[in-house]
Amino acid sequence: MRRMLPNVLQPNETDHVPVLVEEVRELLALTPGETFVDATFGAGGHSSMLAADLRGKGKVIAIDRDPSVRDYFERFRRRTGVQARFLRGDFSIVLEQLAANGVRADAILLDLGVSSMQLDRPERGFSYAVDAPLDMRMDPSSDVSARTLVNEDGERELEQIFRRYGEERFARQIARAIVRRRRERPFERTGDLVETIKAAIPAPARFGDGHPAKRVFQALRIAVNDELAALGDALPAALEMLRPGGRLAVISFHSLEDRIVKTFFREQARGCVCPPDFPVCVCGHEPTLRILTSRPLRPALQEVAANPRAASAKLRAAQKV
Ligand SMILES: C[S@@+](CC[C@H](N)C(=O)[O-])C[C@H]1O[C@@H](n2cnc3c(N)ncnc32)[C@H](O)[C@@H]1O
Repeated sequence: MRRMLPNVLQPNETDHVPVLVEEVRELLALTPGETFVDATFGAGGHSSMLAADLRGKGKVIAIDRDPSVRDYFERFRRRTGVQARFLRGDFSIVLEQLAANGVRADAILLDLGVSSMQLDRPERGFSYAVDAPLDMRMDPSSDVSARTLVNEDGERELEQIFRRYGEERFARQIARAIVRRRRERPFERTGDLVETIKAAIPAPARFGDGHPAKRVFQALRIAVNDELAALGDALPAALEMLRPGGRLAVISFHSLEDRIVKTFFREQARGCVCPPDFPVCVCGHEPTLRILTSRPLRPALQEVAANPRAASAKLRAAQKV
């Protein structure tokens, strides 16, 4: 994967390795003069590959809610030399604002979830593998952190978060243990939370199916960053921004995200939405998207071997009619 990046943008060892790059590139099929919106810029790995297809003519609009991405963007702009600008914010809001201001795009990419830089920097508090302050905000200026949720949400709310966003079997036991533990002293660090989770689940379950805190950490991250609502709002805004013939690609990393994308694509690709017993169409509804991936594309085994974080990635793409 690293070898596929243009020489000018070889990432550092700690940078995010972009997933499904060749597949995204083929589906978005940028040509010189087009406008590309990278709504999840991260370390700019996808943008670097795709910008090469613009051959110096065209525009890149980069979006990310994480302010630390600005340095990666500046590096990208210096090295690729394309016309580019960075907009910091939640993609659901930024895409809506761009669409409302009449900005149009030929291709849009959403590569969801967190970057390796976020996961691997202990001070961001995303990782269960190192003890660090409990945080998990992609945007460090937002009000709600994992610390807030774990110390202030009710037992039922925590249970629902763990069950819904983490599909955690022991959601109730873990929520109960958290509430009991925080009566003594509030949670401050990831390590405290990991210990409480481990103690709350039955011993045999601690050893199967990955790290025992993995699902709770995923669930908290999704809740802290309101990831599913952002995706649900971003898809119609992205569609509005696209020019006819424009392409939208979304890479998701868990089934909840993929379901939102699949449902949106299917609804937009439908023609008539009249009830099935109507003899003739009265709705006049026209499809707005043509689905380019009848099934989601998954990374090849070689890619997963080189980059285990790609394992759960699913790519769907569609074209505006
Ligand atoms: C998987 S990384 C993207 C990596 C990028 N494609 C690359 O090649 O380096 C996801 C990025 O999206 C950002 N992000 C996630 N949800 C967001 C949202 N709702 N609004 C803006 N940025 C978001 C994260 O901060 C993170 O930097």
